[in-house]
Amino acid sequence: MGFFNFILQVVAVLICSCSFVSFAVHGNKIGSNGIPSTLDGPFAPHTAPFDVSLRGNAVDLPDTDPRVRRRVKGFQPEQISVSLSTTYDSVWISWITGEFQISNHDKNIIPLDPKSVASVVRYGTSRNPLNHEAKGYSLVYSQLYPFEGLQNYTSGIIHHARLTGLKPDKLYYYRCGDPSIGALSGVYSFKTMPVSSPNSYPKRIAIMGDLGLTYNTSTTINHVISNDPQLALLVGDVTYANLYLTNGTGSDCYSCAFPDSPIHETYQPRWDYWGRFMQPLVSKVPLMVVEGNHEIEKQVENQTFVAYSSRFAFPAKESGSSSTFYYSFNAGGIHFVMLGAYIAYHKSSDQYKWLERDLANVDRSITPWLVAVWHPPLV
Ligand SMILES: *[C@@H]1O[C@H](CO)[C@@H](O)[C@H](O)[C@H]1NC(C)=O
Ligand SMILES: *[C@@H]1O[C@H](CO)[C@@H](O)[C@H](O)[C@H]1NC(C)=O
Ligand SMILES: *[C@@H]1O[C@H](CO)[C@@H](O)[C@H](O)[C@H]1NC(C)=O
Ligand SMILES: *[C@@H]1O[C@H](CO)[C@@H](O)[C@H](O)[C@H]1NC(C)=O
Ligand SMILES: [Fe+2]
Repeated sequence: MGFFNFILQVVAVLICSCSFVSFAVHGNKIGSNGIPSTLDGPFAPHTAPFDVSLRGNAVDLPDTDPRVRRRVKGFQPEQISVSLSTTYDSVWISWITGEFQISNHDKNIIPLDPKSVASVVRYGTSRNPLNHEAKGYSLVYSQLYPFEGLQNYTSGIIHHARLTGLKPDKLYYYRCGDPSIGALSGVYSFKTMPVSSPNSYPKRIAIMGDLGLTYNTSTTINHVISNDPQLALLVGDVTYANLYLTNGTGSDCYSCAFPDSPIHETYQPRWDYWGRFMQPLVSKVPLMVVEGNHEIEKQVENQTFVAYSSRFAFPAKESGSSSTFYYSFNAGGIHFVMLGAYIAYHKSSDQYKWLERDLANVDRSITPWLVAVWHPPLV
């Protein structure tokens, strides 16, 4: 729930935890004559109240839906996605190989060895030959519950590789995988961001929040695809895997349905379903994600946000952040600041100091638009 599509008039995006969405847009509504561009502005602010009749009817896509099922064999790449680095000349490609495992009878699951499958991307500006190669890194994460009757999860091998030396506003083709074992993906493509300047912008940006994996999500994503954005932002609340018990039983209202669970459980395969479902969009359109409350996903030893931090690539290091929870990047004449609402942000916090440094480096004559997003309402 909570999808809005507009061009560059956003000054603030506020997506609430659950029950309503308030959205302040410094701009006008999407008209029947198409969507105006920033350069047509400035526009008066517009706030669209949430239509409460939309609440409470979302039905999750079941694990039998063809869009969420594993379509590859062996160590062929799946759940392929693109995300941006800080500037147009670099992007991240992410994908998964191998199958996740679940244990339900105390038989210890042995996680896959992330080093057993290489992380290679071949890319170039023409489909053939793909004459550049990037090597990345890989990892496996686990979601463990030390409670009787609960099931543990360990992921397939997650790969992230950073492509560098890219030209602005250009279509690139790529294949990812491990060529040494004959496991390269098909050819996909993405377009780089334009150079940062007051006169160049991505053509259209989709901003989503509270996305989930329901029949309504598919309406939203089809709508996004048909609007052909050049960049997509997901402002927290990704899969809602935390509306499920570890045995795969879900509910619209976790605390109503499962008041006695010893810890707030999750069903991690929902993340894999989501990665498969999203691939048609995000293998092509860069997706930038920041964490929401549904990504907390507490597990053994008080660990949190492990799926979120493991599955996505973030330009954290590139933007001087030491955390997957907050980072920044440029998209044409816009500087985006992705803020973490579930990590300290008081004045002596690392995030606050990072934000001061980040803002001090913004040159408004190069990126006149400064867009800051985070997940919960600002109160
Ligand atoms: C899951 O992992 C936890 C922590 O390692 C362990 O205590 C528990 O027995 C495991 N459960 C199963 C069903 O394997
Ligand atoms: C959401 O999906 C349900 C089917 O699960 C459908 O009945 C309903 O109309 C959809 N709501 C919107 C706003 O599209
Ligand atoms: C999952 O666990 C819940 C709570 O113990 C139980 O009610 C439900 O029947 C279980 N579902 C399956 C598929 O085992
Ligand atoms: C987890 O957090 C609780 C409450 O903050 C604390 O009492 C406990 O010692 C922590 N456990 C571990 C393993 O860090
Ligand atoms: Fe939320």
